[in-house]
Amino acid sequence: MLVGPKSANAIAVISTRHLANLALIGFMGTGKTTVGRLVAESLHFDFLDTDELIQSSTGRSVAEIFSREGESAFRALEHRVVNELAARGQTVISTGGGLPTNGDNLAALKTHALVICLWASTEQIWERVHLQTHRPLLQGPDPQTKIRELLAERKQFYLQADVLVNTDQRSVREVAQQIIHQFKVATSD
Ligand code: S3P
Repeated sequence: MLVGPKSANAIAVISTRHLANLALIGFMGTGKTTVGRLVAESLHFDFLDTDELIQSSTGRSVAEIFSREGESAFRALEHRVVNELAARGQTVISTGGGLPTNGDNLAALKTHALVICLWASTEQIWERVHLQTHRPLLQGPDPQTKIRELLAERKQFYLQADVLVNTDQRSVREVAQQIIHQFKVATSD
């Protein structure tokens, strides 16, 4: 469990912030969307997913954007979407796995949301994603190595979340309960 001391520190830091929303960051396959929907339902919040927002505003799938315009075009769209989220309230925001690699995105989220990172081991991520085909970054010849490399590169960004929650060997419901607890603690006076 990674959540203990990190959350205690986080609560001191975030006490001056207005936490209107709850944002989930983390690597592909850590359960942000599934868990996020459950958390939103329990808190009676709206639910938004940055990939879905990009898809509905462009009329293209993430895979199409990557293949036709490249990853940098996708990252620019992601950045635009993040900046529009500040107007939201009572919303659980699930983010694409690469979104926090732009420090401005994370800073923007922190102005209005408690940022929770869902963590999982490489093995667990592989277990969860290996039958899926919609993620362009994992369609190469050696997706397991790609996961390991990307996770190592991105760890520094994920660790900047307010709270880290380990999802390995834990059910969606357990993870959701943990997140709800953290949000209630962070938003109580
Ligand atoms: C990406 C993660 C995906 C999606 C895109 C790029 C990444 O979202 O944004 O394929 O760079 O990690 P999920 O984390 O929801 O799979």
